[in-house]
Amino acid sequence: MSRAGLLSIEDLGRQGIVEILHLADSFAEVSERSIPKVPALRGKTVATVFFESSTRTRLSFEAAAKRLSADTMTFTAATSSVTKGESLRDTVETIDALGVDVMVVRHGSSGAPAQVARWVEAYVVNAGDGQHEHPTQALLDCFTLREAMARRAGADPVDDLAGVRIAIVGDVRHSRVARSCVLAFRALGARVVLVGPPTLLPPTTEGWGVEVVHDLDTALDEVDVCYLLRLQSERLREALLPSLGEYSERYGLTRERARRLDPDLLVMHPGPMIRGVEIAAEIASSPRSLVTRQVHNGVAVRMAVLFRLLAGDLRAPFPGMPAGAGAVEPAVRVTGGARSG
Ligand code: NCD
Repeated sequence: MSRAGLLSIEDLGRQGIVEILHLADSFAEVSERSIPKVPALRGKTVATVFFESSTRTRLSFEAAAKRLSADTMTFTAATSSVTKGESLRDTVETIDALGVDVMVVRHGSSGAPAQVARWVEAYVVNAGDGQHEHPTQALLDCFTLREAMARRAGADPVDDLAGVRIAIVGDVRHSRVARSCVLAFRALGARVVLVGPPTLLPPTTEGWGVEVVHDLDTALDEVDVCYLLRLQSERLREALLPSLGEYSERYGLTRERARRLDPDLLVMHPGPMIRGVEIAAEIASSPRSLVTRQVHNGVAVRMAVLFRLLAGDLRAPFPGMPAGAGAVEPAVRVTGGARSG
């Protein structure tokens, strides 16, 4: 049996997402302390295993592991024996043999983390695989949106995003973030519209449960949130775009477009942002932008994921996987300290 970990938002379902959000609430509180650290995962080891570049995702997982007092290991393909021809299987089996509890895997091929999970003993967390999924990005986006909605309502965060309308704009076709976000936003009750030129939208969206619109201005009139995607230039194999300038004019949140926006419209971006292409610099740093909150909240959300996998040595951590895991009481475990073994 594969005891995989977190490979897709589908491993969680609505109940699993809500559980992670609640746990992340507790860890967000830990992050505000003068010493933002709890001993919850003392004795555990988390390895980040990245075959593609990353700034925020890797640093965020490492910060999360450290705040839970886990040990960390860092593998970067560019400085490893992969450059000497070592295979993916040999590489991850080697890391596994060092005795790690979680491997956080990023890879350019869709499905690579699932394959790794079949080879190793450690839990695998998908930190972005090709054009497939990036589940922890979607979780931190749900957390951030829920926080922003609560702040606006002057109330505590609620569990769902019911009634929230979200436009996901740009290169949806090549975006793993978009796939995970559609699944997560919809699971929490939000309405999602995909916006982009036909060449940058998936060939079919049947079963996605989303609307598709090709005109950004029409979409922006009807949504609460504009979620911009980076153009995945490393995955754009054919000439799918006339020019960056034309793309920006039609699908970028330009300064001119921003002047016409509803003052309440929120803007999100998973980063890295290409300022001047999908987003004007001043919008990225304006009060309507949640970009910094997204990065900030990523640590608490990833603490929640690591904790949910490892605390109590769960073997079936998420709904949808075989039973065997007891309910986790976040408050008790977070403040109660380490469970070694
Ligand atoms: C994304 C990724 O790598 O999938 N970035 C991230 O993890 N925050 C999005 C992107 O590269 O465009």
